[in-house]
Amino acid sequence: MRKIFVNTDNPYEIIVHKGIFEYCDEIIANFFDSRNTVIVTDETVYKIYGKIFKDKLLKKGFKVGVFVLKAGEQSKNLNNLSSLYHFLSESEITRDDFIIALGGGVVGDLAGFAAASFLRGISFIQIPTTLVAQVDSSVGGKTAVNIKSGKNLVGAFHQPSLVICDPDLLSTLSSRVFCDGMGEVIKYAVAFSESLFIKLLNQANIYDILEEVICDCINCKKNIVEQDERDLENRMKLNFGHTVGHAIEKYNNYTKITHGQAVSIGMVYIMQQGEKLGITKKNETEKLKCILKKFKLPTNTCISWEDIFTNSLGDKKRRGDNITIVTVSEIGKSRLLTLSLDEYKNFLSC
Ligand code: NAD
Ligand code: GLY
Repeated sequence: MRKIFVNTDNPYEIIVHKGIFEYCDEIIANFFDSRNTVIVTDETVYKIYGKIFKDKLLKKGFKVGVFVLKAGEQSKNLNNLSSLYHFLSESEITRDDFIIALGGGVVGDLAGFAAASFLRGISFIQIPTTLVAQVDSSVGGKTAVNIKSGKNLVGAFHQPSLVICDPDLLSTLSSRVFCDGMGEVIKYAVAFSESLFIKLLNQANIYDILEEVICDCINCKKNIVEQDERDLENRMKLNFGHTVGHAIEKYNNYTKITHGQAVSIGMVYIMQQGEKLGITKKNETEKLKCILKKFKLPTNTCISWEDIFTNSLGDKKRRGDNITIVTVSEIGKSRLLTLSLDEYKNFLSC
């Protein structure tokens, strides 16, 4: 069993272990004095894992409410958040009690934001069930819902009290959802860890090293979050590939292309332009493409640089007439580059 301690303002532990889901009820019973909880999950996850989990908690003497969302990004909205507040209230959740987020990033972000705001903040546990959630969204305390004008525009920083991460839960993911998560894994390797990059490149079967890879990613994120919990500087590096990626998603109205696919294209785009401008070492983009193809992730787009530019203007890393992008000098080494909008145009079009 691996334990990763995250030293944020409210510190917590991430337990990573294949098969640990089986003992979740015990871990939670030892962790919290309260015996009143609400599990937030989605329909797909509830069918596979939620029902069994609920029964285990009931046997341990918990009073358990279950709030089930429809699966998918559309569920991360204010209506569901409001219904969840009512449900928490009806379930008599008090400040001593806690929420359990059992699911992917959608469940984790919405449940986390409910925990951040209900009664001005209660505890929550993350049990991430997708690769994205295990390596990224369950760690670091960013919680949010989407509104009409954009994704994740309403949210809060609220660290979980505990994260229980079982790589075995990923065995039921569709290959599309798994590969989407690999986009984020590759992001960590390219932006922060050459050794992780080499590991991914050399291993024939990712499942053989999954727990180790998940821990490598969590450690990358932990280090960054500990330096910059509030996303004021270095944490922005976690968004490598995301400025162009989000622009591509927005251009497609969040249809046709998944987040992981868009980020993959975004990473290649930034590295290619970086090579042309001498910011990125020659031939690094080819290495990136090679690893993305291995996980069936796309490497190019037919969207024009003008459309990428226009659709980047809502990026959270834009401040007035400047935008900060994440570049890579060589595999494993990223840096922030703040450009005026004209310079950003030149960067995209050179
Ligand atoms: P998701 O939560 O929508 O899950 C993807 C699909 O997989 C869903 O259909 C879900 O029902 C299904 N699923 C989940 N676990 C499963 C399992 N074990 N077996 C079978 N099916 C399963 O998507 P996601 O990719 O996990 O997360 C994306 C969300 O995460 C986005 O909203 C994004 O904004 C957010 N996110 C947040 C952060 C953060 O720091 N807070 C970081 C990255 C992403
Ligand atoms: N997923 C980016 C962050 O947590 O900052």
